[in-house]
Amino acid sequence: MQEQQQQKLIHTFSALADIGQEVAHKNNFQEMIQTSLHLLLGSLAIMRGGVARYSKFGHELNFLAVRGLGDDFPLSASLEMSDEREFLNTGMSDIELSQAKMLAFFQRYQKVLDRKRIEMIMPLIVRDQLVGIVFLGEKATGEPFTKEDKAVIQAMARHIGVGIHQRNLMAELNRRAEENRQLYEGMRMTYKDTVRAFATAIDCKDKYTEGHSVRVGRYSEIIAEELEWKEEEIEGVAVAGYLHDVGKLTVEKTIINAPYRINAKESKELNKHPGVGYEILLPIQHPYADVPLAAKYHHERLDGRGYPDGLKDNEIPYIAKIVSLADSFDAMTTDRPYKRRRPFNEVIEDMHRNAGTQFAPELVRAFCSGILKEVTGENKSRRFRRLLGPEYMEAEGLEMSLKDALNGMNATKPLTLIASG
Ligand SMILES: [Fe+2]
Repeated sequence: MQEQQQQKLIHTFSALADIGQEVAHKNNFQEMIQTSLHLLLGSLAIMRGGVARYSKFGHELNFLAVRGLGDDFPLSASLEMSDEREFLNTGMSDIELSQAKMLAFFQRYQKVLDRKRIEMIMPLIVRDQLVGIVFLGEKATGEPFTKEDKAVIQAMARHIGVGIHQRNLMAELNRRAEENRQLYEGMRMTYKDTVRAFATAIDCKDKYTEGHSVRVGRYSEIIAEELEWKEEEIEGVAVAGYLHDVGKLTVEKTIINAPYRINAKESKELNKHPGVGYEILLPIQHPYADVPLAAKYHHERLDGRGYPDGLKDNEIPYIAKIVSLADSFDAMTTDRPYKRRRPFNEVIEDMHRNAGTQFAPELVRAFCSGILKEVTGENKSRRFRRLLGPEYMEAEGLEMSLKDALNGMNATKPLTLIASG
């Protein structure tokens, strides 16, 4: 007899250990609950039972696992607030159905519980919350549950309860993470839309260079892509391109739209736009830190002959070098009131010639390599064709100029990454 009891005890302990393992290691929640129920029923030779999870919001019990209860057992049951309170009052101890008839829940479900010969239930309570209920039928021997049996059931039920609670926490965490992601995505879209709207507003002021800011945004983006920058950095550079001329909003329209070469005084006025742009952009919380710097320094040159500060090579923020190249490229490839755009191959030759004095050589290289990929068909996105028109891409000697430029420059300089955040 003693040996039999010892065997039973060992069996129970190993089942308990198994449940612990299940809860800790199983990724599949449903499977974990099912195995736990089987272990619980098996260790005490209980004929039938089920594990239900309580949904506080829906006020319902949903069965996650059932065994031996037949096809007509309802897998969902409503649980009133008052039921919840009573279960919480009872705590995590067994309730034998014969003694529980006064509970409202039993009165509602008495018929089916009787029919299915459910003998005992145990509320699963974790951190003062009802997370579910275990339903159990009678033992195979027909004997009543002993005190030890009940202790085993309680211990196993505790494991199952923790498993359900963990799952609830995970679900809540995922829900919040998704909510945050959507909020962030929404803000990012709003920011992008605002930036584009601003670019269009800047471009409206200058009737001769329609779409300039938008194109500079795109070219800057392409250069950053060719440099294989991270997604948020590419976005940052694009934004810098879109907004680089925002300072022009404060410059007289007559100066911007002058159909002749402007005089020194007008030029001085126009040359204030980088500084003004910087002032406008600085107080805004950009997702990318260097956007105001791009506005301020997009007219600087590597040789120090640019404006407003005459900065030299390493003193110029990297993002401004990119926008500067994109800006000049657009100026050369679009018609102006006093001059028509130059053939594509000449523009490439110009960039090649001025690499090292006006433009950063590694950027000219990245840009040319991006154009060449489209000319040779390696890149099928047609991004340059769309921005420049298909006939412009047919310029004679374009491929040659691109290859010359690429062979004539070595991009050995380490790249400085922009700060994002
Ligand atoms: Fe500008």
